[in-house]
Amino acid sequence: MAKKTNGTIGILTAGGDCPGLNAVIRGVAKAALHYGIRVIGIRDGFRGLIENRTLPLDSQAVSGILTQGGTFLGSSRDKPHKMPVGGKVVDMTNVAVRNYKKLKLDCLVCLGGNGTQKTAFRLHQRGGLNVLTLPKTIDNDVAETDITFGFDSAMAIATEAIDRLHTTATSHQRIIVVEIMGHDAGWLCLGAGIAGGADVILIPEIPYDLEAVARHLTRRRKAGKRFSLIAVAEGIISREEAKAREAAKRIESPFIAESGGTRLVQEPVASRLARQLQQLTGVEARVTSLGHVQRGGTPTPFDRLLCTRLGTKAGELLAQGRYNIMVGVRGTECVPVPLAKVAGIKRVVPTNHPWIKTARLVETCLGDDCE
Ligand code: F6P
Repeated sequence: MAKKTNGTIGILTAGGDCPGLNAVIRGVAKAALHYGIRVIGIRDGFRGLIENRTLPLDSQAVSGILTQGGTFLGSSRDKPHKMPVGGKVVDMTNVAVRNYKKLKLDCLVCLGGNGTQKTAFRLHQRGGLNVLTLPKTIDNDVAETDITFGFDSAMAIATEAIDRLHTTATSHQRIIVVEIMGHDAGWLCLGAGIAGGADVILIPEIPYDLEAVARHLTRRRKAGKRFSLIAVAEGIISREEAKAREAAKRIESPFIAESGGTRLVQEPVASRLARQLQQLTGVEARVTSLGHVQRGGTPTPFDRLLCTRLGTKAGELLAQGRYNIMVGVRGTECVPVPLAKVAGIKRVVPTNHPWIKTARLVETCLGDDCE
């Protein structure tokens, strides 16, 4: 007897990858299949939907992927309404809608960060698609969820890096500046900085005072400390830059330029800071930029559990026909949140967040008041 089907979903991963994507795909697919829903994988994010590149996902196809980093479906930062095609940027929303219909999808499940939440919501609003999203990003900056998947794994990698840098910094009596991902939100830098015991933590939400940081380093030196570890997020700005940016009403980081949808790094922020601090303190400084190492490899046990919980909750909600929501985390629960409350909102670190107070109470300089 043919098995009863309960509709069809497509699933894609978009934006920068992170550990845990495969674990979520597995969770969604296994739970959906359990409820009799057919699952179709879409390759390389929204681009795969436009180009109709898909594969059927049965239980076998999603077996053995729980611990694998990256996304076996592939990812891209392409958006249907701004697709680079032959040197031009074209609105291909209608193609996305056509292919959604051709695949007979009841819902498009999108795993991604802020950009993806926005794109999915746009497809719902402009194209009439049913969507369900899951909050992925090492940046932890998606609204309406306590945490995003991938964050814990990246924090573990960054913390281990800080630990390792500590031992070499002390051997050589150096300042080491370690650059951690995060252009707009400092969660990862702050979390790893506190966990790794960084002496200075600079995040985009708190413009830093270079002189104050230098004085903090000099005081440490005088107190007999042989090293200083400085954790900085990619998007930090000095007080002067913050003022200039405010005056010019510029939105983008001074270190980053947008070019046809691609982000180009103009100047490594950590290098400039290390050079300035070496000049001001007379202490030898070195730089380590962790870069995409933070997005690679296997997810932590915390993320594997979180991903499996989020993915299976999504499967349950899909079986109930609950669409146009993101599955977020609230305390101990995975809960549906209207996508309208998520799309277009970036959750940055509030300057009165408990982690900020925690850091200050263990004498960490946050770049503002380090006296
Ligand atoms: O959004 C996640 C993120 O890892 C950011 O922290 C980082 O700034 C950015 O992606 C890097 O993107 P790309 O992989 O395109 O260089």
